[in-house]
Amino acid sequence: MVSEEKIRNRPQKFINQKGRIILSMITNIESKEKRVRYGEQKIRWARNKMPVLDSISKRWKIERPLNGIRVAACLHVTAKTANLLCTLKDGGAEVALCGSNPLSTQDDVVAALNEVFGVKTYAKHGDNKEMYYKRMNQVLDLKPHITVDDGADLINTLHSQRKELLNNVIGGTEETTTGVTRLKAMARNNYLMYPIIAVNNALTKHMFDNRYGTGQSTIDGILRATNYLIAGGIFVVVGYGWCGRGIAARARGMGARVTVVETEPVKALEAVMDGFEVTSMLKAAAKANFIVTATGNIHVVDKEHLENLKDGCILSNAGHFNVEINLEALQELSIRKQTVRENVEEYTMKNGKKVYVIGEGRLVNLAAGEGHPADVMDMSFSNQALSVEYLVKEGRNLKKDVYSVPEQIDAEVARLKLSSMGVETEKMTAEQKEYLNSWEIGT
Ligand SMILES: NC(=O)c1ccc[n+]([C@@H]2O[C@H](COP(=O)([O-])OP(=O)(O)OC[C@H]3O[C@@H](n4cnc5c(N)ncnc54)[C@H](O)[C@@H]3O)[C@@H](O)[C@H]2O)c1
Repeated sequence: MVSEEKIRNRPQKFINQKGRIILSMITNIESKEKRVRYGEQKIRWARNKMPVLDSISKRWKIERPLNGIRVAACLHVTAKTANLLCTLKDGGAEVALCGSNPLSTQDDVVAALNEVFGVKTYAKHGDNKEMYYKRMNQVLDLKPHITVDDGADLINTLHSQRKELLNNVIGGTEETTTGVTRLKAMARNNYLMYPIIAVNNALTKHMFDNRYGTGQSTIDGILRATNYLIAGGIFVVVGYGWCGRGIAARARGMGARVTVVETEPVKALEAVMDGFEVTSMLKAAAKANFIVTATGNIHVVDKEHLENLKDGCILSNAGHFNVEINLEALQELSIRKQTVRENVEEYTMKNGKKVYVIGEGRLVNLAAGEGHPADVMDMSFSNQALSVEYLVKEGRNLKKDVYSVPEQIDAEVARLKLSSMGVETEKMTAEQKEYLNSWEIGT
């Protein structure tokens, strides 16, 4: 991990923290009453675009499938997440929430969850590492039966520091690609102590949330932070997975000249046939106006690439952790770092060039924006809610492993979403069903 402490503890003349202090004062001047009101408005606004989750709430208020169940959640604290927690409460669960990233927490949402919606929420924007884990432990004090995670930090803390609580746990869910990767590694090493549903792997999650959600909100985060023109810019997307495909498509839609960097040959080929230039990180770095990483990997923009950057390059990351850009190396290559705009830090490099990092290299769409649109989170969080219901029923019969979301949940989420959009699908005739199940009929 990049040591943030190391960066922060450098002498003041090297790192101008003044900008950040002033900015955090600005975000804190609102009165508590105003924060609660804004947060409540945001949560209700998001709900307008979450009809699938709403339909689950309506059913659960009658059936109460989570009665007596305690759910500990570690998610980006946004208005969409607030709606998931309210739905889990509607199902009868006792819930507690902490943030899954210090820069993605929206303090007005925290205030409204605690004061209006009765959801115990332990999170604060800009928390340091110590506070981040302290609040996670406060959530674990709930003694959960179910964990809901985004990035696997909660599960990791439970397995490493709060082992005494493991006996209570029926199962857990995981929201994102990086979390699923970590949990599969835990299962492989026989370290995982309860079953996990990989919500990320549901088709109605990654095909929409990772692609269209990250695609749109990453561009949104970059625009909010910089207000720069995308059209005509050389826009480098590192990683052509679900997130990268979405970001590349949206950047092209805004008129950027998009280049893709990818390690997997099949995905690189796909990017080529989708009409993008594909090249190495070294060559891409030398010409980029914007670089966005979306790989789930470490130091994909490393020292040798940073040395090669063009003056004025805007660096940002959409992957889960702040390790994709080697910020320690950038620090070493620089003589000065200062906050020049909200969420933008300028590094003056020894070679005289200035480059800019958005949101300290953390998820740009959440650090500099509001995260995914509610419309896609409706599907992701409906998968979460239905997977929690499934675990309450079936979790005790599952092995300590990572499972896919059951197909019927995926299909149900798609069906409910289409119905909320007023979209009709075609139905197969009996003849067609028979044809597809037969081998006798040929030419
Ligand atoms: N910002 C958000 O809101 C958001 C939303 C969903 C997922 N995520 C996170 O984004 C990351 C990517 O998720 P995904 O679903 O697209 O994963 P994915 O596995 O579909 O795609 C990642 C791609 O990166 C490529 N890659 C790995 N190392 C590379 C390197 N050194 N250079 C170039 N390419 C490299 C892989 O080959 C793969 O194609 C994960 O960390 C995930 O948790 C973020």
